Amino acid sequence: MFITEPEREEGHFSTRSVHAGEPKEKPFGSLTMPIVQTSTYHFEDTAALIEHMERKEAGLEPLRGEYGRYGNPTQEVVERKLAALDGGERALVFASGMAAVTTTLLTFLSAGDHFVLTEDCYRKTRQFSLEVMSRLGVTCSIVPQGDYAKMEEAMRPETRLVVGETPTNPYLRVIDIPRVVEIARRHGALTLIDATFGTPYNIRPLEYGADLVVHSATKYLGGHNDLLAGAVIGRAELIARIREMQGMLGGVAAPNTLYLLLRGLKTLGLRMARHNENGQRVAEFLERHPAVCRVWYPGLPSHPDHEVAARLMSGFGGVVSFELKTDLQGTAAFIDALKLPYMGPSLGGVESIVEQPALMSHFTLDEAEREALGIRGELVRYALGIEDTQDLIADLAQALERVPVKAHTLAEDGRP
Ligand SMILES: Cc1ncc(COP(=O)(O)O)c(C=O)c1O
Repeated sequence: MFITEPEREEGHFSTRSVHAGEPKEKPFGSLTMPIVQTSTYHFEDTAALIEHMERKEAGLEPLRGEYGRYGNPTQEVVERKLAALDGGERALVFASGMAAVTTTLLTFLSAGDHFVLTEDCYRKTRQFSLEVMSRLGVTCSIVPQGDYAKMEEAMRPETRLVVGETPTNPYLRVIDIPRVVEIARRHGALTLIDATFGTPYNIRPLEYGADLVVHSATKYLGGHNDLLAGAVIGRAELIARIREMQGMLGGVAAPNTLYLLLRGLKTLGLRMARHNENGQRVAEFLERHPAVCRVWYPGLPSHPDHEVAARLMSGFGGVVSFELKTDLQGTAAFIDALKLPYMGPSLGGVESIVEQPALMSHFTLDEAEREALGIRGELVRYALGIEDTQDLIADLAQALERVPVKAHTLAEDGRP
C-alpha cells in the first residue's frame, strides 16, 4: 500500500472519478499522480525490510512497494478510483481485460470444479473456458443468453462460478443480474459479471449482488483507443486471492499505461454521457431508416432486453448493432462509404469505430457456421465515439443512400 490517506467517497460520479483514490499531497507538490517508472523498490535498512516481510507474513497489506509485479503507486490510485466508481471494497488492475478474466477464473476454479458461462460472451473468454480450463479438469456449461431456466438446469453441486456479460457483443443483450445472483447463491456459487460494455457509469453489478465485476479497461474506462488494461472489482477477501494469483501469473499493467488509464477515468462520466446520447439517437435514426432491417440497442423498446436494461441501467452505451436490407457485399460498400468512423475492432474510445462482424471477428468461419451463431453478412456493429451526434447521423445517412436494398427476411424471433 503506497497511499495511506483514507478514501474520499463523497460526491456524485464525476466528482468521484476525478478525486477518488487520489492523495491530495502528491510527490513534489505535483497536482497529478506521477508515473513511478521503476521495477523495484529499495529498503532504507534491515529493520524496514523485516517490518515489511513480517506484515506480509501476517497477511497484512504492505505499507510500501517491493517489486513492480506486486503493484506500483499509480496502479494503487487507479484501483482505489475504480473501487469507488463500481462500489466495491477493492479493485485490481491488469495488463488487459483478458488477463483480468483468465487470472480470475484460475483463482476460483480447480480440477473437478464446474462453472456456467452465458452464450453471447466475448469469444476469447469462451475459447479460454472451453480449450484451456478443460485441460485443467474444469468443466464449463454454456447457457443461452436470457434463459434462466437453462441456467438453473446447468447448476451442479460442484458449480463454483456463474459468469455473465452485460451488455453483450454484438447484440447488446442485458443480463438480469439479480436473477443470476439468486440462482448462483442458492447453489453456493459466486457471480462474476463482465461489464465492459456497461461501465460503472451505466451499470454497477455489485449493487445488484454480483460478487465480482470485470472490465476490459481498454474500452470505455481508458476511453482513448491508446491503451490495453483490465480490472476486477469486489470484496477485499476475493480481490486478495486474485492479487496473489496475479503475482504468480504476472499480467500487470505498466506505469505509463496506468497513468493513461488514470487520466481517462477522470472524464469517464463526461464521455459516457455523450456515448449514451449518440447511441440512443443513432439507434432511433437507424430504426426509422428504410434501408435498415433491424437494430439492436438496449435503449430501444424493440430490444429483447429493454425492460431489464431500463430497470438495471442508467444509460445504454455507445454500441449499436444493425442489419441492412442487403447482403454481405452491399454492407461492405455501405461501410466503405462511411467517412467518420475508423474500420476496426474494439470500442469505447473517443473515435468511432465500425466493423462488419462477418468480415472481422468471424472472418475464419464459413457462412453456415456464422449463421449458426446468428452473425449475418449484413450485420454491422457501430461503436460510436464522442463526435457530435448530428455529424454521425449525417454521415450514416449519406452512406445508407448507397445501400442497394434487396428483399430481406427478418431474423426469426428468439435469435440472439
Ligand atoms: C466484453 C469483453 N471482455 C473482455 C475483453 C478483453 O479485453 P482486452 O482486449 O482488454 O484483453 C473484451 C475485448 O474486446 C471484451 O469486449
